[in-house]
This record gives sequence, C-alpha cells and structure tokens, in this order.
Amino acid sequence: MKLIRVKNYEEMSEKAAALLGETVAKKGDSVLGLATGSTPVGMYQRLADAHNAGKLNLSGVCGVNLDEYIGIGGDHELSYRYFMSKNFYSLFGFDESRAHIPNGLAADLPKECDRYDALIEKLGGIDLQVLGIGRNGHIGFNEPDEVFLKNTHIAELDEDTRAANARFFERPADVPSKALTMGIGAIMAAKEILLLVSGSEKAQALKDAMTGDIDPRLPASILQLHPNVTVIADEAALQK
Ligand code: PGA
Repeated sequence: MKLIRVKNYEEMSEKAAALLGETVAKKGDSVLGLATGSTPVGMYQRLADAHNAGKLNLSGVCGVNLDEYIGIGGDHELSYRYFMSKNFYSLFGFDESRAHIPNGLAADLPKECDRYDALIEKLGGIDLQVLGIGRNGHIGFNEPDEVFLKNTHIAELDEDTRAANARFFERPADVPSKALTMGIGAIMAAKEILLLVSGSEKAQALKDAMTGDIDPRLPASILQLHPNVTVIADEAALQK
C-alpha cells in the first residue's frame, strides 16, 4: 500500500481528483468503480469542475458503483443512484446510461447480484476503484464477517453502519437494514485502488486495515494483498 499523507479533507479531495484524472487522461474509456458517502463528494466536485473547464474529459468513462440500499428506488432521494446523479453526474451532464448501480428494487435480488457481476466482467473489470472506509472497516457494504464474500451479494447492514448513515434519514429507524454490494472479488480485481480517508472517526479502522491482520472482521484489511493501492489520508485519519 502506498500512503499519501495530506493535511485535510480539501487536500485529500484535490489529490484524489488529480490521481483519478491521470487514469482517465491515459485511458478515456476507463471503468471507474465509484463510492458514495461524504468522503468522495469533494473529489467529485473537482472532477466535474475540471471536465467543465475542458481540462479533463469524463464523457467516455463508465461508472460502476459499489452498492445500493435494498427497497429504495433509484429516483428516491436517499438512494445511491440519486446520490451519484446529484453529487457527480449532473454536475457535468454525464450520460447516465454509462452509470451502473445495483438495482435495490429488483424483484429477484440474487439474480440482480449475478447480473451485476456479469456486467462488471463484460465491461472488462474495473480500471480504478475509489473506496471509502467505514468506522467498522467495511468497504462498500462488505461488513465485518467470518469470511470475505467474493461476489456481489445481499448485505445485512451492521448496527454501526446504520447509525453512521442515520444522518441522511429523517429517523434512524428509516435506514434500510439491507443493501446490495459488490463483493471483495471485483474490488480486488480492480487494476488500481484509491482509498480515501478523512477524519478521526476513521483513524482506528485505517490503522487496523493497513497494519493489522488480514481478517474478514475488518474487511478493508484485504487491501494489503492488492498490488496497487494508494491510500490518501488526512492528519485526523492518521492520528492513531
Ligand atoms: P463516509 O462513508 O464517506 O460517509 O464516511 C464511508 C463508508 O462508509 O464507506
């Protein structure tokens, strides 16, 4: 793992946008594995600004998101599809037929998981995967477990994950208890991974992920086995 230390969220976002921009400059039709949450929002804003300023051309890329809540449709304002449109794609007029996200309303969820894995394979795999990390060490919604789950699957969300995400919902009880998530297999098969970490509440998980045992109870620890991971972390996230 390569670690880039930055001062704060702004610098993390700046650096992340620059690195992702380099990948797209080299390969205009890159398949980008994308994440939701507060962490990547600043990076998305900068990428959209660069595109709109003519410094970067994002129109040829494909977006493949990590996860989606089950039971919420893509036009619901708390869905991750809506999040991506609002915080990234709409900022630069992206053709959203190039944006892929699991369908949390699919009638047959196991079939939807298979469809998503087949789609990633058909796209040729992920060139660059952007990841955040949960306080519990999750990546995507790969929650702490006894085993690493390879394929896209239905995840039962940890109580800690639901508590962390409650800030977006009117009532904590409204946070869905299940989601569809890309598995560890597609993430680890990405050619390059960018892990973004900001804030003291992530410090312990980051330390354990980088230096602890490789253990499915801390899913991000698997990243130690990937040959091309860049961690961009700010001072608060590196305080442990
Ligand atoms: P956050 O979420 O960016 O909102 O902190 C990250 C995650 O849970 O993976």
